[in-house]
Amino acid sequence: MDKDTAYKKILSLRKLLEEHNHKYYVLAQPVISDYDFDVLMNELIALENANPEYFDPYSPSQRVGGAVTKEFKTIRHKFAMLSLGNTYSTEELAAFDQRTRKVLENQFSYVCELKFDGVAISITYVNGKLDKAVTRGDGVFGDDVTTNIKTIRSIPLNLKGNDFPDEMEIRGEIIMPRKSFEKLNHLKLIENEAPFANPRNAAAGSLKLQNSKLVAQRKLDCFFYYLLCPSLPYNNHYDNLRKAKDWGFKVSDFMVKCESLNDVIDYINYWNTERYNLDFDIDGIVIKVNDFKQQELLGFTAKSPRWAISYKFKAERVSTKLLSIDYQVGRTGAITPVANLEAVQLSGSVVKRASLHNADIIENLDLRDGDYVFVEKGGEIIPKIISVDIEKRNGTETKVFFIKHCPECGTKLVKTEGEVQFYCPNEFHCPPQIKGKIEHFISRKAMDITGLGEGKTELLYNKKLISNIADLYDLGYHDLYGLENEISDKDNGKIRIIKFHEKTVKNILEGIENSKKTSFERVLYALGIRYVGETVAKKLAFHFENIENLMQASFEELIAVEEIGEKIAQSILSFFSDTYNVDIINKLKAKGVKFQLDKSEATDSSKVLNGLSFIVSGIFSIERDDLKTLIEKNGGKNVSSISSKTDYLITGDNPGASKVLKAQNLNVKIISEDDFYKLLNNL
Ligand code: IVH
Repeated sequence: MDKDTAYKKILSLRKLLEEHNHKYYVLAQPVISDYDFDVLMNELIALENANPEYFDPYSPSQRVGGAVTKEFKTIRHKFAMLSLGNTYSTEELAAFDQRTRKVLENQFSYVCELKFDGVAISITYVNGKLDKAVTRGDGVFGDDVTTNIKTIRSIPLNLKGNDFPDEMEIRGEIIMPRKSFEKLNHLKLIENEAPFANPRNAAAGSLKLQNSKLVAQRKLDCFFYYLLCPSLPYNNHYDNLRKAKDWGFKVSDFMVKCESLNDVIDYINYWNTERYNLDFDIDGIVIKVNDFKQQELLGFTAKSPRWAISYKFKAERVSTKLLSIDYQVGRTGAITPVANLEAVQLSGSVVKRASLHNADIIENLDLRDGDYVFVEKGGEIIPKIISVDIEKRNGTETKVFFIKHCPECGTKLVKTEGEVQFYCPNEFHCPPQIKGKIEHFISRKAMDITGLGEGKTELLYNKKLISNIADLYDLGYHDLYGLENEISDKDNGKIRIIKFHEKTVKNILEGIENSKKTSFERVLYALGIRYVGETVAKKLAFHFENIENLMQASFEELIAVEEIGEKIAQSILSFFSDTYNVDIINKLKAKGVKFQLDKSEATDSSKVLNGLSFIVSGIFSIERDDLKTLIEKNGGKNVSSISSKTDYLITGDNPGASKVLKAQNLNVKIISEDDFYKLLNNL
């Protein structure tokens, strides 16, 4: 294809894909299948790759992300991002209405909108092109997250039509639809990572990801609700926001004009129950005076406009019967009591279980067998028991006594001074603890044998093919091929069938074999020694260099290592004093798992930075994590925020301005990457 034809084809594909994108993500009215969309997109990507001179940062192909932001730049908002006053009752709302009426003598209208529960964003468009997207931050300064925002398909990169202002700012809320949220948390569980508590946190966490490709996969969405521009076509909020729809923005169809407080209250009441049928979370209703002149008359307080207010929905609370209490044993042996409840409808879903967290909570609630309890679902996934429904007591209820023995293995439970949780101390023979240890061992940040995730270790354990982490290295093709199991999810009753086909088995065995290359510090973390997380494992590995040195270390030698306190030292000593653990380590060693630092790592490490703390900011010639590891390997400490106690700020290209300023104010030494290497070699 000659250049001219290629360029024309690129332009027409971009236009076509933008149209389909808008129909699919903004209007929710797709006209072609996902497959056909992908075919067109692949065609565009291939043409753009073959003709790099026609690169356009606003091409729909850029939605897939890929750019990595090392550190988000702090940007001052042109107009401060204010928040809204909150009301929680019709009385408070009536007071707002009265205040408004006092100022506005003429007739006025309200606009009622959903209050989207996500993360606020302010986006500037220049000549119809997305220029900058900035988070709220502290309202005055926010983070530049443009690269991440461009991956959200419902946010236009190029505006439609030709009657938009040359420059305008539009604000909206980045949300994660419930379906995307559930998928994401499911993946997190498979990866052995902590799930997000609610879609809002998930949206906020996603926006802060450094790799925009990952953001693209998170399936975020955005509703727009506020335009800031001196030259808008209409003199009121409602008409302008409707106009913004023509320019390609996603504006909720549920925005309505209300002529009276009663209409507003009707709208609130409707959405108070109807909100559960939306596929995203809202946490209230926003009420705005429509007319711009009237908004101006009302003005602002220091924090929020006087022409708008939010009504926050109360968390729904219901009373239901406590049927029984299950005691779950976690991977560390921690016992968590979980209440089984008479099924009850709450905030759009059926609730049958609620966490009771620990023995103290049961005691503080004065919970009794036979009680009715009030259950509430805040923004979190798991409902909470708020209190006992005392009025429903009839005198036959009996005090709940926390169990004394492990429900899985019968061992007497223990509780350490100052801790709230009871533990089963039978670390190596209590089934959930063994399974938990194996799951931790294979997890991504440990040995990364992810082919074994998703319930597969449970199956191997139940089939008695493995009973500890060392057994994994004895598994062969014929042990695994053909295995099949049903796994039922306790919470939703769904059944999944896991089958070990040839490919699955090959993946697992390959994963196990590759795990032998895992670095010593990660192996140490993978062992699952209580209180030895990733950072502590690194410290120990770099200090002791091999497992023999660590196993022989005395209490004094252990606490002499930076960040290793008495509790951690005690836990390490007790781990290695158990012959069962030593046996496992010897077996792992015999199988080829690494128990010493690599030669290069060992020679790299020193104690020259002992006692010094560092903070790094900017882009460096090496990966930032590698720079941090170098600091730790040489005895230094990485801190996440600057204080007068910080010794050095190492700056690369484009360092965060606020960090540099703070370092200057606190007299923290600012050095370059080269200075740092000199420090390493000269000291
Ligand atoms: S208007 C100056 N409209 O709620 C007023 N905000 O508590 C600008 N929010 O920071 C905000 N839905 O993040 C507005 N329909 C809506 C909203 C909304 C959610 C968020 C927004 C704001 C916060 C205020």
